[in-house]
Amino acid sequence: MNTYCGSRSSRPARLFSFALLDVPLRVRLCRSHLREATADFGLNCLATASMGNPGFLAFFLLSALLCAAPALAQHKEQHRGPSDLKEYIELLERPERDKDQKPDEVIKALNLDRYMTIADIGAGSGYFTRKFVWAVQDKGMVYAVDIEPGMLKYNEEMIEHLHTPYNAKFIVAKENDPLLPPKSVDLVFLCNAYHHLDKRADYFTRVKATLKPKGRVAIIDFYHDERSGNLGFSKDHLIPRDTVIKEMTDAGYTISKEHTFLPKQYFLEFVVAEK
Ligand SMILES: C[S@@+](CC[C@H](N)C(=O)[O-])C[C@H]1O[C@@H](n2cnc3c(N)ncnc32)[C@H](O)[C@@H]1O
Repeated sequence: MNTYCGSRSSRPARLFSFALLDVPLRVRLCRSHLREATADFGLNCLATASMGNPGFLAFFLLSALLCAAPALAQHKEQHRGPSDLKEYIELLERPERDKDQKPDEVIKALNLDRYMTIADIGAGSGYFTRKFVWAVQDKGMVYAVDIEPGMLKYNEEMIEHLHTPYNAKFIVAKENDPLLPPKSVDLVFLCNAYHHLDKRADYFTRVKATLKPKGRVAIIDFYHDERSGNLGFSKDHLIPRDTVIKEMTDAGYTISKEHTFLPKQYFLEFVVAEK
């Protein structure tokens, strides 16, 4: 299992540095050279086509600008994860997020006890992971699961700033498997991560094997319609609430609770269906 562990940390708190993110960022910068080369070629062609026709050039530039704006916004929240980790983390951690995300109310609604094992799938920068660690500290266990190692590094560093003893494992997961130990988890939690998964019925069939008896799965994700307002990215890949219920039913779960206090997101709880 591809994990690293932080527990009962006695290490001095380190100041977070985006240097941690340098490696993935450098890889991305290399990729951007390729994009620049392609763009150079395109610009040469454009220059040739627009010679002697400044109106065409102005029209082309304006159209390109109008097309690029939504694409750039969508880039921040695309299906396959961040292209710029630092920017993505800033987006997930922005303080004004609390207003609609209501993290403390979410934690209260989940009715946790401090002996629980909680898996935060698609944990990202740890916006919720830290709340879970704080709730169970060293009596319970928190698994932060993500496919993006840079996110998990940031997540772990920020947990250290809580200055509390804790048990946590950081799992670099596979796209189709959270790599959690069998029969280990009381609560599997996903916030804005469900819509990132492919073949979700298969994924949650696999998740079933990781749950303890009476284990739960809680899913928070954006409404695909006007209720979520302007999210700054395309809603094409969001999953409607009813589809989540259908897919989870197909995977062998039944809905056990629905919380309705989040203005832009549904918040559903599932348990394994009785046979
Ligand atoms: C929008 S972020 C949400 C982060 C966090 N849950 C929050 O609410 O702040 C989605 C996260 O899911 C992760 N992710 C995407 N596909 C995944 C997969 N198949 N398994 C686990 N994590 C995944 C991304 O890397 C990203 O960190």
